[in-house]
Amino acid sequence: MTRRSTVLLRVAGCAVLLVAAGACQAAPGVARGKALFDTCAPCHGDDGAGDETLGAPAIAGATDWYLTSQLNRFRDRTRGYHYQDAEGLRMGPMTRAFKEVEDLSLIVDYVVSLPIVDPPATLDGDIEAGEAEYEALCSNCHGIDGRGVDAATPELNAPSLLHLNDWYIQSALRKYRDGVRGALPGDNAGAIMRNPVLGMSDERIANVTAYVMTLQRLPRRIPGPPPEPLPPLEVDPSILPEGVTVAMAQEGQDLFHGAGLCASCHLRQGVGGGLAPDLTDAVWLHIDGNYEAIVDVIMDGVPVPIEAPGPMPERGGSTITDEQVLAVAAYVYILSR
Ligand code: HEC
Ligand code: HEC
Ligand code: HEC
Repeated sequence: MTRRSTVLLRVAGCAVLLVAAGACQAAPGVARGKALFDTCAPCHGDDGAGDETLGAPAIAGATDWYLTSQLNRFRDRTRGYHYQDAEGLRMGPMTRAFKEVEDLSLIVDYVVSLPIVDPPATLDGDIEAGEAEYEALCSNCHGIDGRGVDAATPELNAPSLLHLNDWYIQSALRKYRDGVRGALPGDNAGAIMRNPVLGMSDERIANVTAYVMTLQRLPRRIPGPPPEPLPPLEVDPSILPEGVTVAMAQEGQDLFHGAGLCASCHLRQGVGGGLAPDLTDAVWLHIDGNYEAIVDVIMDGVPVPIEAPGPMPERGGSTITDEQVLAVAAYVYILSR
């Protein structure tokens, strides 16, 4: 059959395709994705509900952007790189078996067309203690109801935690903690996820996992609300230290909420939360608040925090340049004045 006649057949519609491909699904892409999903079904199940004995999680409930991001991460070995990550090493080759990246996106189309599966809770944990941990350490990224945040800065996109197996959540959190997942240099998404679980005991992980399993099982395609746009930054140029400009502070505001990763811990506009202190008040824990000291603390991070549960990495764990540090410091300087 020539290329042209295939196109014509598609236009002619499902009845002809039925003969040609032996199937008549809604969209041709989904039909092809379904056929390709045969590669995945031995581990994830025909219905995408997962298989605990193989460590393969439920995927019939994940959003398309998250599935795509993880398949890409497996493919380029940002995930499934560690010798202790037996499950990741099992999964990785599956993504590299496809020569065409397009094929993976067809599989994603098929997976999101599957009915959602809600695996039952199987593990014990102190739900009340887990709730307190979740609110302090997880909700600012994954949302108070666990739906995740879909529309924020891509750097800070956090997936939905609903419709996952508890044994998988527990294992994922231990892997982030132990550097078995998300710990390669330059992996910003991994770094911001690792921060809240660094130093968590197995017991605390079990508790927070038990709490996640109680969250309302919302339908998949209601994304978390997009963040409100930031109000324009008001700067009185007369208060700026020497060498600092209004333009720097404005650039710093974008960096603070984007590539600098600062807002992932200090929250929007630096108001502080469970992971990092308020930067808008006159109280300083480590410095006296002058501009040079702010620059230094951003460069070096805070290896030993006074109040927070975990450290601040150098440059917040991001890859911003020296010049960008000066800009973000200008923004922090304004915040507290
Ligand atoms: C040999 C078994 C096996 C096959 C076949 C397999 N997977 Fe996996 N998959 C796994 C395991 C094990 C994990 C869990 C990795 C971990 O714990 O980090 C996983 C994880 C995943 C994840 C990450 C889920 C999440 O919540 O982060 C996605 C997405 C995924 N697989 C999709 C697929 C797709 C699509 C296919 C077919 C192309 C496929 N898998 C084929 C074993 C498999
Ligand atoms: C600063 C933002 C942020 C915070 C805080 C945060 N996460 Fe995450 N989380 C992420 C991002 C981003 C990812 C995706 C990382 C990746 O691609 O590996 C993620 C991934 C996960 C995953 C893996 C999901 C899957 O399907 O594989 C789990 C489970 C998880 N987070 C649970 C938690 C819990 C529990 C907490 C609180 C203890 C928490 N997160 C705190 C941003 C965050
Ligand atoms: C992983 C979470 C995290 C990230 C990301 C992060 N910080 Fe921090 N930050 C902290 C912690 C923890 C402290 C110290 C709190 C303590 O000692 O209890 C801190 C302290 C600070 C301080 C000193 C505050 C004081 O009171 O002395 C400044 C300034 C600061 N951070 C700015 C930033 C900027 C700017 C960024 C982005 C480039 C950033 N932080 C990214 C966690 C973080």
